[in-house]
Amino acid sequence: MKPTILSGMQPTNDLTLGQYFGALRNWTELQREYNGLFCVVDLHAITVRQEPAKLRRRTLDVVAMYLAGGIDASVSTLFVQSHVPEHCQLQWILSCLTSFGECSRMTQFKDKSSQHADNVNVGLFTYPILMAADILIYNADLVPVGEDQKQHLELTRNLAERFNHIYSDTFTVPEPFIPKVGAKIMSLQEPEKKMSKSDPNERATLFLTDTDDQIRSKLRRAVTDSGSEVIYDQEHRPGVSNLITLYHLATNKSVADIEKEFDGRGYAPFKEAVGEALVDLISPLRQKYLEIRSDEESLNKVIKMGAEHARERARRTLRKVYKKTGFVEL
Ligand code: TYM
Repeated sequence: MKPTILSGMQPTNDLTLGQYFGALRNWTELQREYNGLFCVVDLHAITVRQEPAKLRRRTLDVVAMYLAGGIDASVSTLFVQSHVPEHCQLQWILSCLTSFGECSRMTQFKDKSSQHADNVNVGLFTYPILMAADILIYNADLVPVGEDQKQHLELTRNLAERFNHIYSDTFTVPEPFIPKVGAKIMSLQEPEKKMSKSDPNERATLFLTDTDDQIRSKLRRAVTDSGSEVIYDQEHRPGVSNLITLYHLATNKSVADIEKEFDGRGYAPFKEAVGEALVDLISPLRQKYLEIRSDEESLNKVIKMGAEHARERARRTLRKVYKKTGFVEL
């Protein structure tokens, strides 16, 4: 049996270049060596108010982008979180093992509750426990995510260990897989901040659905630092360093080679080159996405097959957990 990887994304907007480099690209690389489960986390999405029709549409958008990005539905399990109610059932049990303080310490909760001060709901607070259930219900060995999910993974590991300690060995304690480069792609406008799908400044974020012209224009207007040298220095030149990272990830050229290539040429030709490299990367991805997205019948088949497979596995774990917890079997 191959070890298991599990990961997911929220269908709250089009996917960004940050989500691609931080997560999706690594999933596709890992899916042959691992038993892959990739879900669209629609239950997590409603911790922020969503328009129902949009949420429904975006869930299929994300499924199509997973496929366009290289997830092979005949090798991996691709499914929608709400199709597997066992996640919520396990979440309840894990909630009873989580302290209020643990959830209060989550930086994402603190950030999101200040961003959505008018809707600080309990779901936002218990969000990481549902994420832990997503992972533990499949006994995932590895969870490929970006840097911002590290703290949630730590909680997941603690909950697995806690349950195992109280009720005997049940859950695999998962390891995070955070890429060395690309785990935190920064905003194109405020390079001290993470690139985010919900940034109100649309120039700050590159979406995988952006047109070639939008990509070029966002790169041309990307904020660089004072000075004119193309040198990687995260602390003093976060803007140019982020662009070097993007160029490196898109072309595979080393940072040293990139610095040499643009030595003494200034920022403008560098930004042009990064724009072109990203057009070369995103353009075929977008075209594939549009083709896949236009066939909803096939997308529905993929998620139906995925849900059946995921439920089968989830049910088995939940049965064991219920028994260990002391629930009378039906
Ligand atoms: P979400 O939807 O915010 O993001 C999906 C994935 O993309 C990564 N990511 C980034 N990586 C690098 N640079 C960025 N700027 C960037 N922005 C986003 C995220 O780290 C993530 O890996 N809570 C999760 C979804 C989730 C999940 C799970 C993940 C729910 N259950 C179980 C793994 C396992 C989230 O909101 O991701």
